[in-house]
Amino acid sequence: MLLCAMASRTLIEQAKQARDWAFFNRVLSPNQGVKGLLQALEQLGKLPRDFDPDPLINLAQHPHEGVRCAAVKALSRLENPDLLTFLIERLELETATVVRRELVSAIGRLRTPEAIPALINALKDPDAKVALQAVRGLFVFRDLPEVHQALQTLTNHPNELVRDALHSTLQPAHSTTPPRAHLHSPDALKNLMVCGDALQVLRSVPDESIHLTFTSPPYYNARDYMLYPSYEAYLDLLTEVFREVHRVTKEGRFFVLNTSPVLVPRMSRQHSSKRYAIPFDIHPRIVQLGFEFIDDIIWVKPAPSAKNRNGGFYQHRKPLGYKANSVVEYVTVYRKATPKLIDWNMRQYPESIVEASRVQGKYEPTNLWAIAPAADPVHPAVFPLELASQVIQLYSYKGDLILDPFAGRGTVGSAALVLERYFFLIEKEPTYFEYAQQILAGGSLLQSEYRPRFMEYDKFLELVSEGV
Ligand SMILES: C[S@@+](CC[C@H](N)C(=O)[O-])C[C@H]1O[C@@H](n2cnc3c(N)ncnc32)[C@H](O)[C@@H]1O
Repeated sequence: MLLCAMASRTLIEQAKQARDWAFFNRVLSPNQGVKGLLQALEQLGKLPRDFDPDPLINLAQHPHEGVRCAAVKALSRLENPDLLTFLIERLELETATVVRRELVSAIGRLRTPEAIPALINALKDPDAKVALQAVRGLFVFRDLPEVHQALQTLTNHPNELVRDALHSTLQPAHSTTPPRAHLHSPDALKNLMVCGDALQVLRSVPDESIHLTFTSPPYYNARDYMLYPSYEAYLDLLTEVFREVHRVTKEGRFFVLNTSPVLVPRMSRQHSSKRYAIPFDIHPRIVQLGFEFIDDIIWVKPAPSAKNRNGGFYQHRKPLGYKANSVVEYVTVYRKATPKLIDWNMRQYPESIVEASRVQGKYEPTNLWAIAPAADPVHPAVFPLELASQVIQLYSYKGDLILDPFAGRGTVGSAALVLERYFFLIEKEPTYFEYAQQILAGGSLLQSEYRPRFMEYDKFLELVSEGV
């Protein structure tokens, strides 16, 4: 029988069923050669508790580090406490960092207090990923004083993943947040649009009122007139607005930002036009505010919708003169940083809301979203309803409060109403505010028990002074 055929998954499964340990002695024999061993180890799958670990113990000392790594991984799945001494001995001798990582993971998986000294020792490993495995292994013992003390020594670990893992490990096991507080948002803000400056308005919004923000900010000075004294001043203004967005966002919830580089046209033929990389320039500031970067979604539009930038190049074909027609915008997804996993956010909702909010039918599994752009007779820069609907469906639950601080004609509000969420919108320009009012007050969209309300900034201040 051919050796590679011997290692096929079907034969392995049959041998497991038959408790044919001799079969495993043959396929896991060091004589098989590295390729055959790696293939066999990969096919092993879940092993029965009474699996004879001897061939794997042998391979955990094989000269090839890939074989050692795969063998330790297989041993780890046995979760056999009798292997602890062997694993610790190997850890002391092992030089390959990938194998040390698997060894620490295997030791941690045993969940036995005898493993604690080896795991504490592994916290000092120069490879941050080994230290990370040790933190994970110690998680179940975090309430023991010696473990707590050892973990505390890593508070200033140079690697951010270790610091994050540590932070969540040292959190109290039970949340102090009252049940369902995460779902609550102020009634006064539900389906409200305010005509005013985003920064001023947001400053009066209570902490942690918002479940999701989706917005497309103004495009610097891409139009003819100068709205901002400089690009730096523009970025500073966005940063201040997003600082408020961070404050009003609930723990672990999302901030989704639609931006694209903008082209400020040249003044004359003697000057060149200038392209500003807004998504990339604003990104580090957003992370600095305490948002965690989650995803970069590319919104791709049909080619004919792009402004033609390569007319000249088409004629002369001289290298360096090429300029791409831009058919994409960026939809960057951030989460308010928290040591809690996203499952924690999901668990805050009762089953009925989770059921009602499930994303039904087809959805886009990649980060390339093909959506046609929208045109509007009144507002020059709206995003399509489909884009807002997609973001709201994917990043919020029914009954959540959705913010757009640069609301324009209120596309986010339209999508929120249809999807049975609430909107809270801010728009500075009275023309667009009034236009949004006509759209959002329209009966066909009105499915909510909170009638959409529209007010000037002064009225809003009165409202919040009464307490929201
Ligand atoms: C790109 S548009 C957003 C359009 C919106 N997504 C829609 O679909 O209608 C940006 C909007 O922000 C508004 N805006 C600019 N500066 C603002 C500020 N400081 N506060 C509130 N709104 C502002 C502009 O008037 C403009 O309507």
